[in-house]
Amino acid sequence: MKFFVDTADVAAIAELNDLGMVDGVTTNPSLIMKSGRDITEVTKEIAEMIEGPVSAEVVALEADAMVAEGRKLAQIAPNIAVKVPLTWDGLKACRQLSSEGHTVNVTLCFSANQALLAAKAGASFISPFIGRLDDINLDGMQLIADIRQIYDNYDFETEILAASIRTVNHAFEAARIGSDIMTAPPEVIRKMAQHPLTDKGLEAFLKDWEKTGQKIL
Ligand code: G3P
Repeated sequence: MKFFVDTADVAAIAELNDLGMVDGVTTNPSLIMKSGRDITEVTKEIAEMIEGPVSAEVVALEADAMVAEGRKLAQIAPNIAVKVPLTWDGLKACRQLSSEGHTVNVTLCFSANQALLAAKAGASFISPFIGRLDDINLDGMQLIADIRQIYDNYDFETEILAASIRTVNHAFEAARIGSDIMTAPPEVIRKMAQHPLTDKGLEAFLKDWEKTGQKIL
């Protein structure tokens, strides 16, 4: 499973990148706002730091305007994935941008039919939002499973990018179902390393080690 980091926080990306945990980065207008930085400047810095795709999102609503914004964002670096929303105009923009050779991430996907359309329109990535479905008492993970089945039925090459990952269980379930990628905030990726029995076991080992009076270095 590929790990994308869902943030525009350069320091957090750098730390995870040094650990080999970053196969890509996703941003959106809210994350750019949170970073407090200029979209072109921060996206360029991230794209130069990592090898994988860096998603940068258009904000226009009409297809031609989305395509124009997408082309501009794609000029920031060769590894930019243009992110467009899953609207009818977004699908048109996806088709156009992907036919020009751009990597396109279709975002704000909340149904399997939407994901099917994105694959038909040539999306490289489809981003189903798990947490936001869970927020309204729907089953976000079932959506990942449904898309997995549909894409496998027809050998679509669009990669499933599980997004709006809020918990370590979201990460585990998305991996178990076979999502190609998950994009998660840095803190969720860090939490995946935690287990209370690891902490307890380490404490016991260190207490016993102290009793030996030995040193390794
Ligand atoms: O990847 C999409 C993500 O940024 C949305 O997450 O937690 O705002 O639903 P959230």
